[in-house]
Amino acid sequence: MTSRYAQLLFTEEVRRQQRQHGSRTAYARMAAGPQHADRLGARETAFVSMVDSFFIASTSSTGWPYVQHRGGPAGFLQALDDSTLGFADFRGNRQYITTGNLDVDSRVSLLLIHYSSQARFKIAGRARYVTAEQCPDIAEKLRPRDYRAIVERFALITVEAYDWNCPQHIAPRYTPEEVRSAVESLEQRIALLEQENDELRQRLVDAAPTAPGSDDEGDDRCHIAR
Ligand SMILES: Cc1cc2nc3c(=O)[nH]c(=O)nc-3n(C[C@H](O)[C@H](O)[C@H](O)COP(=O)(O)O)c2cc1C
Repeated sequence: MTSRYAQLLFTEEVRRQQRQHGSRTAYARMAAGPQHADRLGARETAFVSMVDSFFIASTSSTGWPYVQHRGGPAGFLQALDDSTLGFADFRGNRQYITTGNLDVDSRVSLLLIHYSSQARFKIAGRARYVTAEQCPDIAEKLRPRDYRAIVERFALITVEAYDWNCPQHIAPRYTPEEVRSAVESLEQRIALLEQENDELRQRLVDAAPTAPGSDDEGDDRCHIAR
């Protein structure tokens, strides 16, 4: 956990809970680091480009938290630089709950999970929406190619803090592409083994002594005289 993440999320109430449960001392040390926003490094940037979905939480003006899923082709969420994430926001059910929430409070929490590697990553940041007309270069970069969806707007998130979680309790799951690539090597191996098997079987047939009295010997005792 970065110190910035701890500073943002360890509120007075959270700290009280940590004291009650005996984890406060260790966590106090984490929060004691630098107070500037976290920067995305190579590991974070690579991870962001691997996920094909994530969850985004925002807060409504009534104080209710709201969480929604965002999905697309792997890489649709991109690190545009070391402090900015972006993604194309597709047309959906047109409830615009996240969009409306962001009009009053830009703070968001993202949860990225990569199931096959059992890795998860949390990000706290501030989001804003832009249109392709406002930011054509960003739109060009974020618009997924060959993907059937109507892009309504582009979301830009300024990262404030992040936290890597442990893999515990993430059941590994595999995308169809991951299954296909794993099965592909097995299929190639099976094809090779089948070919080898056919060749060995043929060699056995070729090497077998011909049984006396078989048709191959030209035994004509079974022939019916006409
Ligand atoms: C036709 C259609 C119907 C949808 N219905 C739902 C739905 O009932 N519930 C839901 O959570 N998402 C639904 N979705 C997905 C959401 O519309 C999509 O995730 C959208 O980004 C939600 O944003 P919001 O919840 O922030 O308003 C639907 C998408 C489409 C295209």
